[in-house]
This record gives sequence, structure tokens and C-alpha cells, in this order.
Amino acid sequence: MSPPVLAIRDLSVAYRSRRGRLAALRHVDIEVAANRIVGIVGESGCGKSTLIAAVLGLLAPNAEVMSGTVGFEGRNLLAATPAELRAVRGPRIATIFQDPMTALNPVLSIATQMIDIQYRSDEGATAKRARAIAMLTRVGIPDAAQRIDDYAHRFSGGMRQRIVIGMALLMRPALLIADEPTTALDVTLEAQIVHLLREMRGEIAGSILFVSHNLGLIAELCDEVVVMYAGEVVERAPVRALFHAPQHPYTRLLLACDPARVAEGTFPLPTIPGGLPDLAALPQGCVFRARCPDARAECATPPPLRNIGAGHVARCVRAGDG
Ligand SMILES: Nc1ncnc2c1ncn2[C@@H]1O[C@H](COP(=O)(O)OP(=O)(O)OP(=O)(O)O)[C@@H](O)[C@H]1O
Ligand SMILES: [Mg+2]
Repeated sequence: MSPPVLAIRDLSVAYRSRRGRLAALRHVDIEVAANRIVGIVGESGCGKSTLIAAVLGLLAPNAEVMSGTVGFEGRNLLAATPAELRAVRGPRIATIFQDPMTALNPVLSIATQMIDIQYRSDEGATAKRARAIAMLTRVGIPDAAQRIDDYAHRFSGGMRQRIVIGMALLMRPALLIADEPTTALDVTLEAQIVHLLREMRGEIAGSILFVSHNLGLIAELCDEVVVMYAGEVVERAPVRALFHAPQHPYTRLLLACDPARVAEGTFPLPTIPGGLPDLAALPQGCVFRARCPDARAECATPPPLRNIGAGHVARCVRAGDG
């Protein structure tokens, strides 16, 4: 087994707030192996973006890393200097976010940006432009040779996200991190982008960490899935096992509430009753206890991460009971 491309170990992050410390991530372990796509899913506020910010060294000023390491290409990114992090972000870890405009410069043409991004290559401008046009064609921009001289505002949202993916892939990164990259798009475009990422994987992308609250996209794209709840990893499994034999009650409820899986015409759509616990005053024991239909007395002590086998773990006392 080759070492993982990304190894997040025991990561805990807290935010200082007027209400005290918000324990946004607690003892998170996530690995992304070479050529694997790992999905992270969980309700709004469960810590997905905090996790990605920690990996990229882009945590908010009021955030504090309480424990853990982020291993990438032989070093701990949490101990890297700002200059080292800048050398990693982009060339080695590329990112795509919800709003493609945050990654595109509105006052430079796409051509200029796509040529600039190849700054590490010794090729001349003509060769770089040709590579950029080939990449735009590859990600589905029609008439790329003409359109490359346009500015970002001349493209639709779906096209912009394709351009950002193309730019990310031009760098040949070891890891692509995507945080809700399709949330701003309609369902047809969303499906196209996911299809594109899937096509690209073997060719160029290597490993992908894909964050989404859309279970359908996760099922389609990912090899492994990590389910987060209130700052903890509650379940982690190969994609088939997660969807066919979920072990954590939270995962089961997420699947039951997935709009794509409930019977057509169901109204109102089912939701998980209750809300996330207060991160400034977490309950004792299992974090999901207050909302869990199967909660019992023993859930008042912190549940162990139970190993169900074949890369499947769940943080529930009853996991694996069948
Ligand atoms: N700078 C900050 N200061 C204080 N609290 C914060 C800060 N950033 C995030 N939080 C809190 O940390 C928790 C995790 O937030 P995060 O943005 O990581 O969640 P998320 O899973 O990405 O949610 P979403 O699906 O809405 O993007 C939330 O309770 C959020 O309110
Ligand atoms: Mg987020």
C-alpha cells in the first residue's frame, strides 16, 4: 500500500466566540489514498468547510487548532510556514469552491489566467496557450480557441465552474479539494460537472476530496464516504457499504431524508427532527443522542468508533449489531 496522499489525524479545531470556545472539529481522522475520491457529507454546520480551511492553512483568525496533524507529501501542513503553504496551495492541492468567481480574476482574460497558472513550466507562451485551449475543450467549453480571450463574466455559471476545474487540472495537482462545487448550479449542470470530474479522475486529477450535502452526487462520484455530525466523524465506509448498510443512526436518517430517495410527491419532505447541539456546550456522551431514535442509557458515555470491517467504521455503540 502506498502512503495516503492526505492524512488528517486527530484534528480538533475550535473557534473563539463571545459565547466561549466552539468545538467545531473534534478528533477527526480522514485519509485520502492515491487515485481515490473521498466524499464528506453532513448537515450545514457540521464542520466541512472548517476541515478544508484547516487543510489549506486558511482558517479564520479566531480559529485555533487544538490537536492533530495534516500530513501531505511528507510534511505536516499545520506546521508549515505561510510561504510553504502558498507553494502547496494551487500547484499541489488545487481547490474548487461553490462560487467560481472567487477563483477567477474579473479583469484578466481567461487566456491570461490560464497561461499565468502554468508559471512553473518552461514552455513558451504559444505552447501554454495551446495547452490552455486543449484543456478548455477537454472540460467542454465550445469554440475554446476563440472563447479563451473572453473575460469570466461572459461565461455562464456552469461554464465558469468548468473553467475553474480546467485551471485546477492544468497544475496537475496531487489532490483536488472541491467544497460544494455544484451547489450554485441547476441539477442538469450539476450532473455534468460531476460527470466531468469522474472522467477527469484517472487522467489527471489523482485524488479528490469532495464535500457535498448532496448524497446522490456523493454516491455517483466517490469511492469512500465520510459522514460528519457536529464536528465529528460518525461513520466512514466504502461508498456501497455506506449506502447499502449504513451503521450510524444519523447516516440512516440522512439517507431516509434524501429528496432523491423519498417517494415522489411526498410533502412536506422528511427532515431529521431537532437541530445540531450547541458547539459551545456539547452534551455528554454521543453527540447525536438528543436526536437519535435509538438512544439509550449507555449513549450517555462517549461511543467508541466501532470497526465493522473492510474499511467501515461507525461511532455508535450498536454499530455492527446487524
Ligand atoms: N469564523 C468563525 N467563528 C465562529 N464560528 C464559526 C466560524 N466559522 C464557522 N463557525 C461555526 O463552526 C461550525 C462549523 O462551520 P462550517 O462552516 O465548517 O460548517 P459546514 O459543514 O461547512 O456548513 P455548510 O454546509 O453550511 O457549509 C458552525 O457552527 C459555524 O457556525
Ligand atoms: Mg461549508
